Amino acid sequence: MSNSLIVNQSLNLKGRVNSSGAKNAVLVEMAATLLADGVSILKNVPASEDVFNMSALLQDLGAKVDFDIISKTLKIDTTLVDSYQVTSERMKKMRASILVLGPLLAKFLRARVALPGGCTLGARPIDYHIKNFQKLGVQFLQNEDFLDAVVQKLNSRDLFLDYPSVGATENILMAATLTEGVTKIINAALEPEVLDLICMLQKMGASIKIQLPATIVIEGVSVLRPVTHEVVFDRLEAGSLLLAAAITGGSIYLPQADANILEGFLYKLVEMGHEIKTSNGIELIATSEPKAVSIKTHPYPGFPTDLQAHMMVAQCLAEGTSVVEETVYENRMLHAHELNRMGANIKVTGNSATVTGVKKLQGMQVLASDIRASCALVLAGLVAQGTTVVEGLHHFRRGYDALENKLKQLGADIYIGELSEKREDLIEKYN
Ligand code: EPZ
Repeated sequence: MSNSLIVNQSLNLKGRVNSSGAKNAVLVEMAATLLADGVSILKNVPASEDVFNMSALLQDLGAKVDFDIISKTLKIDTTLVDSYQVTSERMKKMRASILVLGPLLAKFLRARVALPGGCTLGARPIDYHIKNFQKLGVQFLQNEDFLDAVVQKLNSRDLFLDYPSVGATENILMAATLTEGVTKIINAALEPEVLDLICMLQKMGASIKIQLPATIVIEGVSVLRPVTHEVVFDRLEAGSLLLAAAITGGSIYLPQADANILEGFLYKLVEMGHEIKTSNGIELIATSEPKAVSIKTHPYPGFPTDLQAHMMVAQCLAEGTSVVEETVYENRMLHAHELNRMGANIKVTGNSATVTGVKKLQGMQVLASDIRASCALVLAGLVAQGTTVVEGLHHFRRGYDALENKLKQLGADIYIGELSEKREDLIEKYN
C-alpha cells in the first residue's frame, strides 16, 4: 500500500483554489453533536481521514453517521446513542478522540476513554482536561489502558487554565453547556476553531459569552437541540496554499479565506516581501527576492504552531538568516533534519532553529513526522530540484482533504507513489 507523495519541482504555481472546512473545527463539532438528541447536519466538511475516524467513533457510541462527500455534508443522528465507552483502538487513532469526554460526561455523567493518540509532538498529556474536570466534581479512575470518569452531578464554578489549551477549553466548554449554574473558563483558548464551536453551541441553545481578554462564561441550560452548522474554512490549509505560491514564486487567490483570522501569518508574508490583497478573500503575488523573517509560535492570535514547519521551508530559500522558535510543543522540529538532508542550512537548539538561506534545495526521500510536517515537506519538494519522495502519506491524509489535487490545480507535478524500493534505489530512480 502506498505511503508516499512524489513531488517533482513545480515552480511558479498559479491559480484560484476553494477552501475546505477546518479539520480542527469539524472534529470537535462532531463530538458536540452528542450534546443533543436528534439529527445534526454539518456542512463544508473535509473528507480527511480524521473525519472518518471521528465518524466511526460516534458510530461505536450508537450514532448514525452519513457523509455525502460530494456535497461535503455530514448527517449525525444521536437519537440512539447509548454508550459512554470508547475503545482504546479507536482512541489511539487521533488526539481529537479525547474531545468526546466532555459531551459524554454531560450526557451520561460517565465516560470510559483511553489515552488519545495523535502526532509525535511531545508528551501531549491531558492533565489540564483531567484537573479541570475534577474541579467540576468528576472522579477519574485510571488503569493502564483506560480512564474511567464518573460524576454524581457536574458543578459549575470558575476555572483557570494554566495554559490556554485548545482541547481543554473545548472539552470543559461542551460539558458546561449542560451544567446547571455559571461556569467560567479563565485564560481560555480563543482559536478561530474554538469560536466556531461556540457559534455552533449557541445555535444549539447554549448560553455562552466571551469576556475580554480571554474568559468564556457559560450558563448551563437543561437541554440542547440538534443543529445545522457550516464549518469555518481551514486557515491551516489556506496558509499552506499561500506558502506553496510564495515559495515557488507564483500567485494564488483564495476566495473563501478570511484574512481576519490569518493576520499574524499574513503580516510575516508581507515582511518577506510578498504582495497580499485581502479586500475579498486572500490573494498573494510572490516576490522574486524573499527576505528571511523570524517567527515565534504562540496560541492565537500569535503565529500558529501548525504553520511553523511550512514557514521554516520558506525561510530556507530566503535572503538572510532567521530564527524559528516553537513554544507550543516540546518536540516540533523534526522536519528541520529532513530539510537539511535536502540541502537547507538549519541549526536546531532545543525548540529554536536558526535558518540561513541557501540558493537551492535538492530533491530527496524524506520522512514526515506529523500532519503539518508532511505538508511542509511537500512544499519543499515543489521548489527543490529534481524529485522529492515524502514518506508519511497517512499524516497528509489525516489532516487534509486531497490537498494534492488543489496543488495540481495550481500546476504542481505531484502524485501518490509506490514506496516499494529501498531509499537509495528511490533516490537513484527519481533524481
Ligand atoms: C489542538 O490540539 C489542535 N488539534 C492542534 O493541531 C494544535 O496544534 C493545537 O490545538 C494548538 O493550537 C485539534 O484541534 C484536533 P493544546 P490540542 O491542548 O488541543 C500541552 C494539527 O496538526 N497540553 O492547545 O491537543 C500540549 O502538549 C494539530 O492539526 C498539556 O500539557 O492542543 C501542547 O504542548 C497538531 N496538557 C500544548 O499544551 C493538556 O492537558 C498545547 O496543546 C493539554 C495540552
